[in-house]
Amino acid sequence: MTVLVAYATTGGSTAEIAGWIAEELRGAALAVDVRPAAEVDDIDGYAAVVLGGAMYAAGWHRDARQFAHRFAGRPALPPVWLFSSGPLDSSADEAEVPPTPQALEAIRALHARGHVTFGGRLSTETRGWLGFIARRMDSEGHAGDFRNPDRVRAWARDIAAEIRAG
Ligand SMILES: Cc1cc2nc3c(=O)[nH]c(=O)nc-3n(C[C@H](O)[C@H](O)[C@H](O)COP(=O)(O)O)c2cc1C
Repeated sequence: MTVLVAYATTGGSTAEIAGWIAEELRGAALAVDVRPAAEVDDIDGYAAVVLGGAMYAAGWHRDARQFAHRFAGRPALPPVWLFSSGPLDSSADEAEVPPTPQALEAIRALHARGHVTFGGRLSTETRGWLGFIARRMDSEGHAGDFRNPDRVRAWARDIAAEIRAG
């Protein structure tokens, strides 16, 4: 029983969330492949799929959207769970942050069993354009790490239980 955890990231923080999820699934005795969403061209044979994407400009990372498009309408889709990572404050921990319209489209296309929004991270140490933006946003108080590993891991354990229950 192998689970695919696919992620769409620019700054790396969503990839790290995917890693935390994978650790919990493995802790529940499931085999896990963790892969960038853009590199996945086949999901046949997976017992379940977890797809996560960062939020940018009120949208969902392109690699996550394209993943959903690639596999939408497949007759035998495995059970799918989605997550988004974005808010650069504690809002995601305080109340449910609804999916962006693009993530909502993916929920429908993949018949996802669940979706959750986790807080994000914007690091001023990131190289390139993202780091430039982060440093600019830092002066407005938006940079930082608002991810909550305990919440991510608890969500992953719930998924593991659902997968194992069939
Ligand atoms: C240019 C830019 C636009 C962003 N837009 C949003 C947004 O619309 N909604 C949101 O919740 N977070 C937004 N964020 C925060 C990112 O989603 C957050 O930093 C996320 O953790 C990035 O994930 P990644 O490191 O995997 O790329 C934005 C960040 C940047 C730099």
